[in-house]
Amino acid sequence: MNSALPPALKARIEALLEGVSRKALASKAAIISQGYRAGGGSSATIADEASVIAYVLSRLPATYAAAAAVFDATRVAAPDFSPKTLCDVGTGPGTAGWAALETWNAIAQVTMADFNPAFLRVAKKLAVGTPSIEGASVIALNLIDHAPPRADLVTSSFVLAEIAIARLNQVVGRLWSATNEVLVLIEPGTPAGFERIRAARKMLIGEGAHVLAPCTHDRECPITGTDWCHFSQRLPRSRDHLKVKGASVPFENEKYSYIVVTRGPVARGNLARIIAPPEESKAGISLPLCAERGLQRAFVSRRQRDVFALLRKAKWGDTILSEE
Ligand SMILES: C[S@@+](CC[C@H](N)C(=O)[O-])C[C@H]1O[C@@H](n2cnc3c(N)ncnc32)[C@H](O)[C@@H]1O
Repeated sequence: MNSALPPALKARIEALLEGVSRKALASKAAIISQGYRAGGGSSATIADEASVIAYVLSRLPATYAAAAAVFDATRVAAPDFSPKTLCDVGTGPGTAGWAALETWNAIAQVTMADFNPAFLRVAKKLAVGTPSIEGASVIALNLIDHAPPRADLVTSSFVLAEIAIARLNQVVGRLWSATNEVLVLIEPGTPAGFERIRAARKMLIGEGAHVLAPCTHDRECPITGTDWCHFSQRLPRSRDHLKVKGASVPFENEKYSYIVVTRGPVARGNLARIIAPPEESKAGISLPLCAERGLQRAFVSRRQRDVFALLRKAKWGDTILSEE
């Protein structure tokens, strides 16, 4: 799985940044971050093209990396899934569409939908010159009022955070009705992001959906209390990104929560998902797992050489075979 941006997208972003003051971008990016931290939606802070460019520089690489990681987990869970049509709702600058095309090359028809015209203008500009996405149908659509067009794969990444809780079921229902095969929802890896994912999961299972990932079962989510299910994707930071964020570390870790559901039944292979970083000690390795039986912690001693060697390579977010 490659969390770095595809070269064509990187080149278009560089073209977009030509001649734009980095100082102005940094102050726009700071306003966008403050808005997110205050729990607001993007429409409060992103209304013109300059603000979208600041989003593209400061947030797109991380939301792209999260989408690429989630699509990779989807591909592992459903290797035969090969969508021909994609509808990315709340597409912003088209982020998840680009990541989906890198994962599934059979996608022949892309729809990018959003209610913010500034985002849609930039999504079109970024797509210029890349045949797989240049022909995308780019549509203005408010999920609160209208259903998106049907597609084999429907994606909505970092969008539900901007939907009022009271509207969540209605919006998730719309996304599900538009889904021929697989629906992917991605949110920030925060307690609030997870709460929306958990609510969407419950509602979708009630509508007959089956979970492909991260859960390896359709049972009630066993996570309770102050804990929240999330994952982390490391991605490189470009020089411009470092400048705009005022950061010094050349990478960042994007935390995300997600749910992938499908209409078809899922062949369950007695798998468990690693839901936090494995802990290695002198004695062995301890893995926090979520499986059909609920939450469990597996411990493998160094003396169990072969299993230990295998599990040592397993990462937070991977699935492993669960014990009976
Ligand atoms: C944080 S941005 C995420 C953009 C992109 N999906 C990404 O991952 O980079 C949230 C997007 O959701 C869109 N959005 C929020 N509410 C919406 C609604 N009711 N209908 C359509 N789009 C909406 C916003 O305009 C914005 O583009």
